[in-house]
Amino acid sequence: MELEIERLLRMAWLAWILPILIVSFPSSHLNSLHHILLVCAGRGKICNSSSRLNKLTVPQKFFSHFYVFAVIWTSFLLLATWEYAHKIGSLVSEATSHSTVASYLTGGSHIFSIYKTQSTSLEHNYRIWRSVFLLILMEFQVLRRLYESLYVFNYSSTAQMHICGYLTGFFFYTAAPLSLCCNCAPEVFTFVANRVAEFIVKGKEHMPPVEFQWLEFLSPLLKLGWFQWIGAVIFFCGWLHQCRCHAILGNLREVKEQDNDYRIPHGDWFEVASSPHYLAEIVMYAGLVVASGGLDLTVWLMFAFVMANLVFAAAETHRWYKRKFDNYPSNRYAIIPFLY
Ligand SMILES: NC(=O)c1ccc[n+]([C@@H]2O[C@H](COP(=O)([O-])OP(=O)(O)OC[C@H]3O[C@@H](n4cnc5c(N)ncnc54)[C@H](OP(=O)(O)O)[C@@H]3O)[C@@H](O)[C@H]2O)c1
Repeated sequence: MELEIERLLRMAWLAWILPILIVSFPSSHLNSLHHILLVCAGRGKICNSSSRLNKLTVPQKFFSHFYVFAVIWTSFLLLATWEYAHKIGSLVSEATSHSTVASYLTGGSHIFSIYKTQSTSLEHNYRIWRSVFLLILMEFQVLRRLYESLYVFNYSSTAQMHICGYLTGFFFYTAAPLSLCCNCAPEVFTFVANRVAEFIVKGKEHMPPVEFQWLEFLSPLLKLGWFQWIGAVIFFCGWLHQCRCHAILGNLREVKEQDNDYRIPHGDWFEVASSPHYLAEIVMYAGLVVASGGLDLTVWLMFAFVMANLVFAAAETHRWYKRKFDNYPSNRYAIIPFLY
């Protein structure tokens, strides 16, 4: 089942990345595919409302739906994985030491196989705690995005997005948190299902009391490796800049709700790029790749999707700014300063 979830996620990420990559190659045969993608991915100022394809739209402020869903789903995965990591963490170390001593005393096991069992269990534990760490970072992101979509952004009444873009948002916030814990998700789901079954059979009174010791839940996270902490620093660098850039965008409209006009943003990374909030998102997901240890293909594919999707939208946004404002600063790049 573990492989099934991983394989499904990888195939899903690839299915979304490939069309975007294909239309990036300049070819007149691909113009219609480019147009379809643009209509589906377009939102707000880059939403082409004159297109025949663009009849199925929803208000752009429906972005908040993604984040309500993302907060619920990410919190569930985080709490379930954390509780499981806590249980398995203490169980494995005890079980391993008991079986090690017993095997050694009875002479029933070769010393190398004991070491192998121990290191496999430790590696397994480490992977689960690493997933908890990644999900904590994701939780920071989705909580802030929910707050911003409700209280910081002033979506104009005319801003729309295509229904495909709306559904893609739900796909993304289902697949992204799951990709961060896909190597232990099947065990976690079985653990949750067993706990629910136990609760139903035994009833609340006969369930073991919940003892919450902060230190037991936090200390294994502090023992993770350098990759996780370097990844977290990169993640929070992007997180902080996105927070600032979103505040700048949210303050561009003076008369809130009635103002549908667009202005040239200034400040923070806006001085070097037209869509620095997209750049910050890419930095955050690069942080997640580093924090995952850099060896997980599913996390790499998630990062590739974010990159392809946002570079595509940033290129359109940059063209839109240059068309709309004659005095648009010429030193700004679309998304990656000094490169693109
Ligand atoms: N991970 C992913 O794959 C992914 C995909 C999509 C988005 N996101 C993230 O979600 C966040 C929001 O994305 P978005 O595409 O909705 O951003 P956006 O189109 O730039 O819009 C954000 C808000 O700012 C307003 N705004 C933008 N430019 C403006 C201007 N020049 N003048 C006045 N108001 C302006 C928009 O108003 P209107 O409503 O009137 O347009 C909207 O309320 C980004 O940080 C992005 O990274 C992530």
